[in-house]
Amino acid sequence: MSPKSPIEGVKRPILGKSTKIEALKQMITRVAPAKTNVLIIGESGTGKELVARALHELSPVHEGPFIAVNCGAIPESLIESELFGHKKGSFTGAIADKPGLFEAADGGTLFLDEVGELPVSMQVKLLRALQDRAIRRVGGNETIKIDVRIVAATNRNLEEGVKKGTFREDLYYRLNVIMLETPPLRERVGDVEELIHVFFDRFNEKQKRGLEGLSADALQVLLSHRWPGNIRELENVMERVVTLAAGPEVEVSSLPSEIVHAARKASGVPKELVLRADFTAGAVDLEKVILEVRAFYEREALIYSKNDAAKASALLNK
Ligand SMILES: Nc1ncnc2c1ncn2[C@@H]1O[C@H](COP(=O)(O)OP(=O)(O)OP(=O)(O)O)[C@@H](O)[C@H]1O
Ligand SMILES: [Mg+2]
Repeated sequence: MSPKSPIEGVKRPILGKSTKIEALKQMITRVAPAKTNVLIIGESGTGKELVARALHELSPVHEGPFIAVNCGAIPESLIESELFGHKKGSFTGAIADKPGLFEAADGGTLFLDEVGELPVSMQVKLLRALQDRAIRRVGGNETIKIDVRIVAATNRNLEEGVKKGTFREDLYYRLNVIMLETPPLRERVGDVEELIHVFFDRFNEKQKRGLEGLSADALQVLLSHRWPGNIRELENVMERVVTLAAGPEVEVSSLPSEIVHAARKASGVPKELVLRADFTAGAVDLEKVILEVRAFYEREALIYSKNDAAKASALLNK
């Protein structure tokens, strides 16, 4: 993508150069100028909210508000009033008229996060609001026109929900005019190194730690981690690493132990030899790599057997 593309200039940039991220950025650029509803699907921590904010920033309603609501975090009894507002006295505790989030987002974007968590009764009301482009406050008779761009997100398989009857099909199609997918980090391993460095620099600067960087070993361990919590996990780990590092260079010993353990387990070899096939510098001399691994094990076997060559051979099944 050309560096001049507007997506590169958003306030909170979407990092990564993998094919999947480039395709996502291109889709955002294409979809943002229309006011169509967008559904973002992706695992936890993959950047769904970041994408929603980018869509808003590049949309015709960018001067309007961006209102995010986590549909999974509001108790069922309060959701309708949260979204649509209420009139004074419409229920116990409704001590004054109160506008809802739809009204707050009027002229901008309403981001319905975790939309799969909405109870079915509320799905019906949401669908009506989207169809009518209007809402009614709880306990009110007046219809209020609303002009919002809806961006919804879910880490659940909504199609499955539709099949099981927990998510309304009509609402699914209404939200899913365009679907964007935020890929998990394991499907774009090529982006991990850039993310490690960007977050390292960001926290190093923010916390004024003045660290020099990561040792080659520490970087290897981080690169071999699978990041099940995706970018959110990577960001949190880098914050911890920067906070706790003895410095000036971050060593493996300063990394969270669960990451080091996972790296050892994944590679099946000790941390000194976490393997990673790196072809960025061109072809790799496989025979040399094998010889190095062999030499490493022979050395270790000798140390383990206290220099007893016969025992060391036995340890290596020789
Ligand atoms: N491509 C990316 N480039 C830079 N930062 C990213 C990227 N993707 C995610 N992040 C960062 O990772 C964190 C998690 O992102 P976000 O909150 O958008 O994920 P999410 O998919 O909404 O996760 P959850 O389902 O846990 O709410 C944020 O701090 C965000 O800034
Ligand atoms: Mg989120």
